[in-house]
Order: sequence, then C-alpha cells, then structure tokens
Amino acid sequence: MKTVIVSALLLRASVEAALYKSKTPPMGWNSYNYYGCNPTEDIMHTNAQGLVDLGLADLGYEYVTTDCGWMAEERDSEDRLQWNTDLFPSGGVALGDFIHGLGLKFGLYSGAGYYQCGSTDLPASLGYEEIDAQTFANWSGDSLKYDNCYASSPTIEADYTSAVSTSPARHEKMAAVLDGVDRDIAYFICQWGVGEDIGDWAPPISNVYRISNDIYNAWRSIWRITNQVVPYYRSTTVGAYPDMDMLIVGLNALSLQEEKFHFSMWALNKSPLNIGAPTSTKLTSAASLAVLSNKEVIAIDQDSLAKQARLVRRYTEEEWDIWAGELSGSRTVLGIANWKNDSQTVEFDLSVVNISSANARDVWAAEDIGAVSGVQSFELAGHELRLLVLSDIIESNALPKSTGKYYSAANATFGGSAQEVDCGAGTCAPKGNKISIPSEGATATFNSVAVGSAGTKLLGIDFINYDVALDTAWGWGTNTRNMTVAVNGGTAKRWAFPISGGDWYESDRMLIEVDGFVAGANQVVLAAYEASSAPDIVGFEVFE
Ligand code: GAL
Repeated sequence: MKTVIVSALLLRASVEAALYKSKTPPMGWNSYNYYGCNPTEDIMHTNAQGLVDLGLADLGYEYVTTDCGWMAEERDSEDRLQWNTDLFPSGGVALGDFIHGLGLKFGLYSGAGYYQCGSTDLPASLGYEEIDAQTFANWSGDSLKYDNCYASSPTIEADYTSAVSTSPARHEKMAAVLDGVDRDIAYFICQWGVGEDIGDWAPPISNVYRISNDIYNAWRSIWRITNQVVPYYRSTTVGAYPDMDMLIVGLNALSLQEEKFHFSMWALNKSPLNIGAPTSTKLTSAASLAVLSNKEVIAIDQDSLAKQARLVRRYTEEEWDIWAGELSGSRTVLGIANWKNDSQTVEFDLSVVNISSANARDVWAAEDIGAVSGVQSFELAGHELRLLVLSDIIESNALPKSTGKYYSAANATFGGSAQEVDCGAGTCAPKGNKISIPSEGATATFNSVAVGSAGTKLLGIDFINYDVALDTAWGWGTNTRNMTVAVNGGTAKRWAFPISGGDWYESDRMLIEVDGFVAGANQVVLAAYEASSAPDIVGFEVFE
C-alpha cells in the first residue's frame, strides 16, 4: 500500500514540475454549444477566422477547440486516432496549420473513457493515452480538453457514482503522459467534478478543471454553476482555474442584461472564457459581441493575481449577492448581483468588504464614479450584475467582532428528523460533528445564544453542502440547500447555501444578517425549508 502511495505522489510531483501552465485563464472558442457533436472543417475555419475578423483574437480569445465528433470510427493500423475525412477532408495537421496561420492556438478534444461523449462509435483515449498524446503533439495541438464519458463501461455514458468514474486516476494518467510529449499542451480537465474533491487533485496537474455538469443554454444554469464554483477560491491560483464551462453569450439564450451578468460572474471567478456562439452569424449581434469584447471585464478575469472572488453576502429572500475579489495593484472588484427578475434598489455599507473609502469605477458603464465611502445604494435592473473596481482603498477595520462563543450540536435540541451526525473520518471543521436537518419539520434549536445588544447580528454559519446534483440539477433541479433561521419566535427567513466543498465533510462559512436579537439570551431556530433538506450545519458564531 505504502509503495503505491509513494509512487502516486512521485508521479504527481513530476507532473507538476513540468506541465504547461497558463498565467491567466485560457480564452477561446469551442464548437460544442452551438454545433453539438457535429463540427466540420468549414465550421472550424469560419469560426477561427471570425475570431480574428471580429477583433476577438486581439482581445485574447485564442484556443480554437473542435469538441466531440471530429474523429473517425477506426484507429489507423498503428492505433492512432484519425480525423473523419468526410467532415475534415484536410485532416488534423492542416487544421492546425490553418488555426496557427491565423495566430491562434489549436485545441483538441478527447475523453478518458471507452467512447467519446455523444457516441458509441467514436473511440476515446482510455488505454491509448501514450499514442493519443503523441498524435495530438504531431498535429501541433496546443491544448487538450479531456472529457469523462463512458468512463466505467461502454454502455453508461455519464456515470456519476462508480469508483472508476469518480476516481481522478484516468485524468491523472493523461496529465503524466502529456507531460512526457515534446510539446506544450495545455491540459483542460473535463471530469465535471465527480467524486474525489477536484479542487484538491486537479489544480496541480491541469490548467483548468470543469467544476460542474454542462452549462445548459438558459438563465437557470447561471445560478447553478455560480453556486457550484463558490468553494474553489481555496485552490484557484495562477495556472489553475475553475472552469464554469462555455459562455452562452450570443446564443439567444439570455437577455443582454443576463449576458453581462454571466460574463461578469465568470470573470469574477477566474473561469476560462470560451465562446460558444458562432462568430460568423450569432455574434453579428453588436450587443453580444460588445459583451464578449469588454476589455475591462476581460481584464478582471485575466488579472495577474488570479484570485477568485468570494461570496461576501447573500440576501436570499431579497435575491441579491455581494461578491468581492482581490485584484492586482491593491484593487478590489465588487460584483453586486441581482438574481431577481425585476429591478430593485439595494444598499450596503462598504465596511462589509472591509473598506472605508476608495475610488470607484463602474465597469459596464465605463464611468469613473470617484470617491465612495460608507453606505452605497444601487438601482439594479432585473438580472443585472453591477461590477465596480475599487482602487486607492482605505480599509475600515470596522467589521463586527465575534462574541467568542460557538454554537454547535452540543448546544442544540432537535425536532423532527434533525439529529447530530458524526463526521467520522472527515474533518468537519471546526467541530468534528454536524447537524443534519434533512426534511420538512426538522429543527435545531439553540436556546441561549448570548449577545450584548438588541438588533441585527451577523451569523457566521459553518455549513456543508455537497449536493452537486450532477444528474438532477442540469435541467430544473438545484444544487443549493435552503435553511430558515428564526430568532425569538420571529419570522423564519430563508437562506440559500451554495456548494461548500468537495465532499460531505468540507464546510464553508456563509455570513448572514439576522434580525430580532435582544440583549442577553436568545432563541435561534434553524429549520429545513419546506420539503427539502437544509445543508448540514457544523455550527455558528455570532458577530456584533
Ligand atoms: C460533456 C462535456 C461537454 C461537451 C460534451 C460533448 O461531457 O462536459 O463540455 O464536451 O461532453 O458531448
């Protein structure tokens, strides 16, 4: 057993040392969202040319990736993958030459399974890693998107549960092999984040790693994928970016306001930016093209620090969030996200992001606002995400202080099906056990939550939600978990918790503002929201 672990570690170390790492999130174009698994040489030529003609190449969109459907059904006599010559009469070398001739990069696609996604005719790379990596290098490929279909058997396309499919081994194998070929090939892992925590294993061996199931060409995907990317701030760094999947800007799937929201959210989180719309037709809409061409938003994505933004506050019932991320030059980017269909005016004190005063620029308006301090008010359109870049920042150091007490399972009484659950081998920080509030009527009641004064308090809720819902959330389902909080018998208010990490032990903290406290002892009731399960709760801390 020991030897296996040691050699796996050595393998990881050697892969890390030499793998190609991009300094900023890769940007490009990918055939899948519009053309499905039916790309052709013409399609690739036209869209690559379009990147240049529309000025997108100059802005950094450079990887041109032919997604699923490009290869022939048979490998050649030396077991090499071949292009489908009906679709790609000139073959791989010529396509690479064409793309390189435009000054762009040639993106290849395969999968770590028996067949390619979307087919049971097209061979994938499982068992052929060395040959395929060498072939990709021979074709002068610059990147490899490596998928996860038919991972465990030739009959199950998307397996989200078996040990084989959820293990990083097949994607690690290709990383090691790519490292051995004599060409820099940027590795884009597309394992969807199933199984072992992808934030732990993928960053050292890849450039980007998909953290979710596919984007669906509709607004609801933006909420799902945003909630899924939250915990990866822990691993996002220069050369390792969480892939929120292709952009659906320009596909007539979103309103213009939503396209800007989507593009902003991907940029805040340092996702790669891959265009999915055909450059020749759809992007002739000037408005969508302007979204993808916004240099200031691109610069947020491409910032040299590569710091993913954090979800700072979420007001679930009011349907808006505050996001904040560190940028180079001691600047901060704020994202004020209105999830509501309708317009609304929101207000917050800059002290929630530890700022007393700063100079602000409204990115989408391309306007310097000038000096800002204290309470700010924003009139947001439905589904608007206001992006502000703050510079010349003076810190406030006025964040509420902890009361010094922590409330966990040991302080709670349980109602309905709620109960204390041992975290077992997991860490379940900071307490080592957690509270399950799994169904309607389940409650955890804390009868003596002590505060010094009456009013609204900030609660730091340590929660666990690994309901990545890979199979159910793709369509209409959700990956957030809701919980209500009621103080001293007041109205129970609902809070939507994002994904907290890569398993059912990893917790994250969400800060929520809860009203109704009195000086002295308070009753706080955590409850399941309607018929769904709350996140698991490790405990909470109160700040005032
Ligand atoms: C999925 C992958 C998509 C796309 C598709 C092709 O597994 O996540 O991005 O490549 O396969 O069928």
